[in-house]
Amino acid sequence: MRAHVCTLAPGWGLTNLEAMSDLVARVREVLPSVRRDLDSLIRIESVSADPARRSEVDRSARVVADLLSQAGFPDVRIVSEKGAPAVIARYLAPPGAPTVLLYAHHDVQPEGDRRQWTSAPFEPTERDGRLYGRGSADDKAGIATHLAAFRAHDGRPPVGVTVFVEGEEESGSPSLGRLLTAHREALAADVIVIADSVNWSTETPALTVSLRGLADCVVEVATLDHGLHSGLWGGVAPDALSALVRMLASLHDDDGNVAIPGLHESTAPAVDYSPEQVRAESGLLDGVSEIGSGSVTRRLWAKPAITVIGLDTTPVAQASNTLIPRARAKVSMRVAPGGDAKAHLDALRAHLEQHAPWGAQVKVIPGDIAQPYAVEAGGRVYDAARAALRQAWGTEPVDIGMGGSIPFIAEFVAAFPQATILITGVEDPATQAHSVDESLHLGVWERAAVAEALLLANLAAPSR
Ligand code: BES
Ligand code: MN
Ligand code: MN
Repeated sequence: MRAHVCTLAPGWGLTNLEAMSDLVARVREVLPSVRRDLDSLIRIESVSADPARRSEVDRSARVVADLLSQAGFPDVRIVSEKGAPAVIARYLAPPGAPTVLLYAHHDVQPEGDRRQWTSAPFEPTERDGRLYGRGSADDKAGIATHLAAFRAHDGRPPVGVTVFVEGEEESGSPSLGRLLTAHREALAADVIVIADSVNWSTETPALTVSLRGLADCVVEVATLDHGLHSGLWGGVAPDALSALVRMLASLHDDDGNVAIPGLHESTAPAVDYSPEQVRAESGLLDGVSEIGSGSVTRRLWAKPAITVIGLDTTPVAQASNTLIPRARAKVSMRVAPGGDAKAHLDALRAHLEQHAPWGAQVKVIPGDIAQPYAVEAGGRVYDAARAALRQAWGTEPVDIGMGGSIPFIAEFVAAFPQATILITGVEDPATQAHSVDESLHLGVWERAAVAEALLLANLAAPSR
């Protein structure tokens, strides 16, 4: 009850210019040593989706806990509720000051095909001002940003600080609800900073004000009891893969818009995203066009999207002239802010079942669900955040939406409805999170750390 009910002074902002530049200098001082900490975190293969690397996820939790203790947090705990270990570190608020919860996740996505990486995925490597490695940005840089901000305040910031580092975000945070219940008091905060999103560019910071939700499923199709000679039976007996691809094709119209009727659409923040920028940042190949209709930001942030993300069938190398009896695909849908992910999954399932050709047998196995979220991006906390970003980057931050999902946000909001949520970024458009050659722009990281240190000061200091 204590921390999260305090009243916040009006009109925050660091007015003392000298204190501000001291703090910026302090961040720059601690950054090289935090960079070494970040390097050691990247060396840990904390892939939460890989059961074989569970001990690596455990080890990364221990290293994160040690680093937070060394940074001066008096109370550091590794916690788990039948899931991956998370770390909670607390520095209690000075009397009358608010408590700020700083979130990041220490698990990472699988590295994919190691041969496609320019340098080894778990060996941090600096090239041209960027630090390469799995998790260098998503989201071990988030942890490093919190460490830098706290250390810049010499472990005695003017606000309460709780760091919460989760270990299963990339697996959809299955035990987060239980963690929130079990550690409700320790996690209670006035402001929640989620350093797990992207900036507008390497020169312009962003606050993420909306996220899409997620709903995915596996669709299995069977047409035959066993494979059949394609010469003897082709033309009469349908193969399962042809049936499946027709069903998958029915998910979009010819322009690439999602073809399931009745899905939710919302509106996107007004920022310009030129076709040239889309081409450059996405790596669209020559001659390949965009899909869908409406502005780019609307399609990315405020409309649903459907992607086929996996397929199990006979590999080409093993293909024989056989009608394939069964096949399956994983289909992932992004849900626009305001939509209900569960209802969207039901609509996807119904659409697939209704579009099965030739009486093919269809089984849809529901998968992950994450609710979308739109932040109310106004008020004092947002003023303090925008001031910190402006001070650190030397330019005005922009409000952006985000097409990705951070499933736990909705759970946090439900647990702490009175807290203000700030979604900040350590990524930039060239980061390639989840892909090969993921990297962190080191200039962006420095500015993100400076901004977070200033934010902690801004949240405490009432200005005149
Ligand atoms: N940090 C990302 C979310 C994100 C994506 C932020 C792109 C900024 C730009 C987060 O780690 C993530 O990958 N979320 C998953 C959630 C899923 C595993 C349930 C996602 O969006 O796919
Ligand atoms: Mn992330
Ligand atoms: Mn991620």
